[in-house]
Amino acid sequence: MEWKQGTKIIHEGLYPDAETGMVTQSITPAVAYAFPDSEAAEAVVSGEKEGVCYGRYGNPTVRTLEKKIALLEGGEDCLGLASGMAAISTALLTFLQNGDHVIVTKDVYGGTYSFMESLAPRFGIEASFVDCTSVQQIHDAIRPNTKAIYIETPSNPCLTILDIEEIATLCKSVEIPLIVDNTFMSPYLQNPLEYGADIVLHSATKYINGHGDVLAGFVVGDKNIIQTMRKKFMGNLGQNLNAWDAYLIIRGLKTLGLRMDKHCSNAQQAAEFLESHPMIQNVFYPGLASHAQHHLAKKQMKGMGGIVSFEVKGGVEAGKALINNLELAMISFSLGDPETLVQHPASMTHAAIPPEERVKFGITDGLIRLSVGLEDSTDIIKDLKLALDKVEADLQVENLK
Ligand SMILES: Cc1ncc(COP(=O)(O)O)c(C=O)c1O
Repeated sequence: MEWKQGTKIIHEGLYPDAETGMVTQSITPAVAYAFPDSEAAEAVVSGEKEGVCYGRYGNPTVRTLEKKIALLEGGEDCLGLASGMAAISTALLTFLQNGDHVIVTKDVYGGTYSFMESLAPRFGIEASFVDCTSVQQIHDAIRPNTKAIYIETPSNPCLTILDIEEIATLCKSVEIPLIVDNTFMSPYLQNPLEYGADIVLHSATKYINGHGDVLAGFVVGDKNIIQTMRKKFMGNLGQNLNAWDAYLIIRGLKTLGLRMDKHCSNAQQAAEFLESHPMIQNVFYPGLASHAQHHLAKKQMKGMGGIVSFEVKGGVEAGKALINNLELAMISFSLGDPETLVQHPASMTHAAIPPEERVKFGITDGLIRLSVGLEDSTDIIKDLKLALDKVEADLQVENLK
């Protein structure tokens, strides 16, 4: 029987233990593995036989989770890593080497930008940041040495939506792999491989684990590529995910569908409230009819996600005053947790991007990113309203002076 994604999230790839019948998965922290003879050891090292030879290259608990994430994303295989940045760097280094060029969507996560701008050039890799809402601009940016196209949709922090199918069609025509960061959606709301992407990756630190207590990342794609990533990159760089964290993710993942539904409905309500408030200049949320790619979002995404970005009238000072006034929402760099989290990208998550570049990417000084949590929506809105009303009142007092 073919189950819906919400059911697959709970059941697929996880089976009761054959011996005891226990429903939950066991944790196997082993690093060393014994083989009956040298031939058996050789077969595992060469990849001829499935198994783990040493903890830096894999682990049985992590493997259970990798197989499950591959099923949920509709990919052949998956690699679990120590963080989203480990997934991003491993994926990019697999396709790029000295002398290569990569096209990157312009408003990308600050850590990815920093990797492209500060670390990749040390290996002779050059990145062009392109407005990927225009396939023509991607096409024009392709060079003979372009070896990958890297996008994030929705993007962090501007919530720009990119047409995965259209970009994948271009990539196929020029035989360049398309890598998609699907962190903001999770496998419950969007599956880029279905639209023709070659690689999908996640920071599982966010929605997939969903409880703010694990750093992890996943890369999903063709099994030979995943095998190369495991052996040549993750193994050599020591970026492996550990069994304890994999277990926490297996547990957190069970409620992914429930959590994402609530994140989406809370975020929609928060975005609509913000759009109606006189102190708000702009709201960026794909679920709003005013969003530039609202129709594309409805076509490509099964839900609009839990992140809302907005600009407060009065610029950076008003924005900072707003986040300082919030009582329920916590000022934090992360997202995707049960708690509503808020941050100021220009001074926090995207501070690595020089101010003149940030503005080109649409990350204005007054932009605020809200990760709408799982609390009662009326409390989230009450918190926003009280904080905004206070900024408005303080501004009026200031203007009277
Ligand atoms: C879209 C996106 N991708 C990747 C990352 C990096 O993830 P991690 O912090 O797990 O390394 C983040 C972190 O915020 C992110 O927002």
